Amino acid sequence: MKLAEKNREQVIDLLCERLAFERSTVRLYDRILEALRLSADARTRDLLATMQKHREEEDQIARWLEGRIRELGGDDRAETDLARLATREARGIEEVAENDAADVTHLLHALLAVEGVDNAGWELLVHLADAAGDGEAKRELERRLRQERRHLAFVRDAIERLAIRTLFGEGYAEEHAMDIAAHVPP
Ligand SMILES: [Fe+2]
Ligand SMILES: [Fe+2]
Repeated sequence: MKLAEKNREQVIDLLCERLAFERSTVRLYDRILEALRLSADARTRDLLATMQKHREEEDQIARWLEGRIRELGGDDRAETDLARLATREARGIEEVAENDAADVTHLLHALLAVEGVDNAGWELLVHLADAAGDGEAKRELERRLRQERRHLAFVRDAIERLAIRTLFGEGYAEEHAMDIAAHVPP
């Protein structure tokens, strides 16, 4: 990875940060999937299939990061400076996941915070690969960023729909032909 030629330790630190983050994201998705399955609301359960897919993507992304860290001679279990920071920051989210397990709205709220930071983290890596002139790493990172963009768009739309139903009532979204898929990038 040309990106890591002059600054291997820092790049490993950044990748370990993303890895710590992705692992905690998988745990949050698991909690959400559990809550969705138990939900009495059919519309809420409609989110399940896509959420499950996104959970698998987060897991695959974590595996991919483990591979890249090992390729660079790093330890994918290492608690690097940024990995520790990501873990400390995730504590609030994990607290919500644990204590608000029955509240889908709270869990989606937490997921939105996570996916927003996740997107920014992947954007940073893409920009760094670009600055290093590492076209191959950039393409690989962009693939993950595209997935992360879809995750963010999906949770944003799910929250929007829920809020619209709460504020304006059941039939509003249908009347106004709101379509989640239309907002989610390909
Ligand atoms: Fe992610
Ligand atoms: Fe994500």
